[in-house]
Amino acid sequence: MKAFICTKYGQPEVLQLREVEKPKPKDNEVLIKIYATAVTASDIFIRSSKIPIKYKIPMRLMIGLTKPRKSIIGLVFAGVIESIGKNIKRFKPGDEVYGLTGFRLGAYAEYMCLKETDSKIGCIAFKPKNISYEEATVVAYGGLLAFQYIEKGHIQKGQKVLIYGASGTSGTIAIQIAKHLGAEVTGVCSTSNLELVKNLGADCVIDYTKEDSIPEGSSYDFILDSVGRIKTSKLKKACIKALSPNGKFVSIDDGALKLDSTRLNKIKEFVESGFIKPIVDRIYPFEELVEAHRYVDLGHKKGGVAIKVN
Ligand SMILES: NC(=O)c1ccc[n+]([C@@H]2O[C@H](COP(=O)([O-])OP(=O)(O)OC[C@H]3O[C@@H](n4cnc5c(N)ncnc54)[C@H](OP(=O)(O)O)[C@@H]3O)[C@@H](O)[C@H]2O)c1
Repeated sequence: MKAFICTKYGQPEVLQLREVEKPKPKDNEVLIKIYATAVTASDIFIRSSKIPIKYKIPMRLMIGLTKPRKSIIGLVFAGVIESIGKNIKRFKPGDEVYGLTGFRLGAYAEYMCLKETDSKIGCIAFKPKNISYEEATVVAYGGLLAFQYIEKGHIQKGQKVLIYGASGTSGTIAIQIAKHLGAEVTGVCSTSNLELVKNLGADCVIDYTKEDSIPEGSSYDFILDSVGRIKTSKLKKACIKALSPNGKFVSIDDGALKLDSTRLNKIKEFVESGFIKPIVDRIYPFEELVEAHRYVDLGHKKGGVAIKVN
């Protein structure tokens, strides 16, 4: 089968297309034919190893000192179960699935084996029926991030919610969940994404490239920082200052992403009911994965970037 091997940490060119052996499922694994994968913030993080110095050693001890220990990287997948091990209960051949691979990685390949139970090395669920495999990869990653951190806000109807970084993979989904919960939502993004964020339901938008402050008198019950703690600005500080007395600020970098198939099932329900629409910026063919990494490296994708594998 074809797979991209990550030969060392570095620029996108460290990813090289090779012919490797097709895996065989163990008794407790399914074999997935991968139809689509994605280039997420996490894939960039792993490939480039651009990690703040204080996390570099622990992170490298975990994923590999000079190159990723798992040579085939890739965190997100959508595809079809091709065969199953004899202990598999939840899935059968032909099932359409989606999910994340966690520390196991391995989605930059035509086939991959995965356990059916949730763990740090993956979670898998039935794919939403009404979207493509490419869209499913975007909603798996962005949805798991958005749901986990939005839940921390315990949003009530009518509350004022601000999503900082509203145009990225998690931000575009966070806005839609907050609106569905009945919040009055403000989205922070750059000029070219104002329209997108409004169309996703934001009642108010703030352009972080133009504003250092928030509209006079604004206050927020919950702020989700969905671009992460590294990206700070005067505007972000002004937003945090405008939290209401019982308001809560949560960054998407607080704690680790949980690989949870129950959440994937909830995302499936939300997508099939039309409450969440995945935003796919670009779709690249598998052979152009390096080009896709170059594009995502620029840091301004709208929603997510998917890769058509099979
Ligand atoms: N907790 C965990 O375990 C975990 C796991 C994975 C990821 N994360 C975190 O989640 C973050 C977000 O992931 P994601 O995939 O949703 O993001 P993403 O899609 O990579 O976000 C890209 C968006 O960020 C916006 N942006 C760039 N610079 C900005 C700035 N200075 N201020 C405000 N917005 C800016 C861009 O919008 P414009 O084009 O409008 O600038 C772009 O649309 C990651 O960066 C990482 O920190 C955490």
